Amino acid sequence: MASKSVFVVAIDFGTSYSGYCFSLASGTDQIRQVYWGTEHGFKSPKTPTCILFNQQQEFKSFGYDAVMKYKSLPSSKAESWYFFQNFKMKLYNTNVTTGMELKATNGKMLPALTVFSESLLYLKQHALNTVEEASFQTIYDQEEITWVITVPAIWSSAAKQFMRLAAKEAGMISDMLSKNLIIALEPEAASLWCKQLPREGFMADSSDKKKFEDSPGIQYIVVDCGGGTIDITVHEIQENHCLKELHKATGGGWGGNTVDENFTNFLREIFSDGVWDEYVKSHPTELQHMMYNFSLQKCSASREAVYIHCYYNLTRVAECKKNISQFFKKAEGALWCDGMIMITYEKMKSLFDYSIKNIICTLREILDKPGMAKVQYILLVGGFASSIILRDAISQAFSKKYHILCPVEAQAAIAKGAVLFGVNPHLVTSRISAKTYGLKVNQIFDDAIHDACKQKVSKAGGYVYCTDLFRKLVGIGESVNINEVAHYDFSPTEPDQKDAYFVFYCTEKQDAQYVDEEGIEQLGFCTVPMPDTHLGTQRQLKMEIKFGLTEFKATCSDLTSKESRTVIIDFLTV
Ligand SMILES: Nc1ncnc2c1ncn2[C@@H]1O[C@H](COP(=O)(O)OP(=O)(O)OP(=O)(O)O)[C@@H](O)[C@H]1O
Ligand SMILES: *[C@@H]1O[C@H](CO)[C@@H](O)[C@H](O)[C@H]1NC(C)=O
Ligand SMILES: *[C@@H]1O[C@H](CO)[C@@H](O)[C@H](O)[C@H]1NC(C)=O
Ligand SMILES: *[C@@H]1O[C@H](CO)[C@@H](O)[C@H](O)[C@H]1NC(C)=O
Ligand SMILES: *[C@@H]1O[C@H](CO)[C@@H](O)[C@H](O)[C@H]1NC(C)=O
Ligand SMILES: [Mg+2]
Repeated sequence: MASKSVFVVAIDFGTSYSGYCFSLASGTDQIRQVYWGTEHGFKSPKTPTCILFNQQQEFKSFGYDAVMKYKSLPSSKAESWYFFQNFKMKLYNTNVTTGMELKATNGKMLPALTVFSESLLYLKQHALNTVEEASFQTIYDQEEITWVITVPAIWSSAAKQFMRLAAKEAGMISDMLSKNLIIALEPEAASLWCKQLPREGFMADSSDKKKFEDSPGIQYIVVDCGGGTIDITVHEIQENHCLKELHKATGGGWGGNTVDENFTNFLREIFSDGVWDEYVKSHPTELQHMMYNFSLQKCSASREAVYIHCYYNLTRVAECKKNISQFFKKAEGALWCDGMIMITYEKMKSLFDYSIKNIICTLREILDKPGMAKVQYILLVGGFASSIILRDAISQAFSKKYHILCPVEAQAAIAKGAVLFGVNPHLVTSRISAKTYGLKVNQIFDDAIHDACKQKVSKAGGYVYCTDLFRKLVGIGESVNINEVAHYDFSPTEPDQKDAYFVFYCTEKQDAQYVDEEGIEQLGFCTVPMPDTHLGTQRQLKMEIKFGLTEFKATCSDLTSKESRTVIIDFLTV
């Protein structure tokens, strides 16, 4: 946390829903929660991550406001405006770059940076208003707030950096290195929240019960079940109440939204002969309404059939082909009920299959590893964790061996925990490296080990060296303390070299010899100036990198000019 901060505001910027919590930076005994949607008859800890721009690409609304506004737009505007939802998933499993674009529901494109930064700007302003109202004071100095933004632990370095860039565009920080923004990992944040809850059941009234954090040695697995990603981490409580990561962040894109996607696929099967596709194309706003209704109905706490209203235009498009009840003749698990589509509970469960199978399979894989034998608890957090269908399935698979717990406000656990993390990022003391990371280096050429095609000779002095060598800095699966520093000493190859260019690589392999081997990916780079050349190749440069943090941080010292500076590793232009 930055030293001048008075408040810590943590934004859980989710795939489906976003929200924030805040507290005084001096103590976390009162974490304030903000509720959304009261003007639309809801009261939820998060608002839909949906954003609407007009034809001129100007921001119009965010959250429930954007959903309501979009579905009431006349079709001419629906065609020319820009509505985005689920766009956070576009940063997962892709090559994230500064200039990437996103497709609105009607197919029109906007820069991703605009979509993300306008969303963050909205949340920032909302939060500033709330904090000012709650504290009866005006915030004049940006430094008074430390912002925390949560990201999936399984995101790439580039995606994490993209969020930082979007936050900078939104005016939360003035430069990319600012300490006023902390990137927190979603399952870690959730874990920090859960560890101070009572261990026997998470019930609010069991204040006499022992908390997780009071039992050093306890190991548990946290599953953040979001709309987009399922993010898994394994932690051990240490003597000092802090957390140690035991397994690298694991997970995938099988969050709650896949249930909606499978529902859509099911409707496409029912409304055959191209009826569904035409409906999707011609009536996007009505479809949005229908899917929104489904996403609420799937959250039902009862193990019962679900009824979805068959909207006017869907009925119209369908009846152009044949009597609508005919479409349901072959449908298994769905019935036409007087203007409603009835989906049986069995069918409902099957829509969760894809997600649940992946979650269970991944949990098994982790828990069956020898190092995980002491894990006793499975903590389910995130909005999707409230699903009775998901909980039943996890219980059935794991309750014999593990205690399965889910906090009362499963969806809010991430933002609340992120506040705790913002106040004290040292609460997580070590992490497991998800990949092997390394740098590209040159070395004196040695016939015995080096490949002739990698041989080079320097311009001055005839120094014969081997290029493209991979120098490992940290290995996959290695535990790295947050204060641990990887050192690298460097001397320039050419005497008149005025800057050093470092290229970073990652791989799932344990190690590698050359950076152009198969399975090695270029990750990012940074440039370090070394303007004073009077010592030629005798100059020394020290590079230090911290791998244990949520973002890599590199510091460089040019021993000749005695200058030290923190450098940005640019992950976004690779
Ligand atoms: N009771 C419930 N039953 C089924 N699904 C639910 C329930 N409550 C919430 N969901 C689903 O959970 C998801 C939202 O959870 P959450 O807010 O934690 O996700 P997110 O933070 O937006 O996503 P991510 O963490 O992947 O970025 C949505 O897919 C929503 O439909
Ligand atoms: C369910 O959704 C997932 C994710 O979109 C997809 O991969 C899978 O094929 C779908 N299954 C069915 C039966 O539609
Ligand atoms: C969703 O649809 C059902 C069935 O038509 C209806 O009872 C319910 O009020 C709708 N909910 C919302 C939020 O639109
Ligand atoms: C049906 O679609 C048309 C054109 O998109 C739209 O103007 C109309 O409002 C829709 N009807 C309903 C009941 O939503
Ligand atoms: C559609 O089919 C139902 C049941 O077969 C029948 O009762 C109804 O009259 C039919 N409607 C039309 C418009 O054909
Ligand atoms: Mg989430």
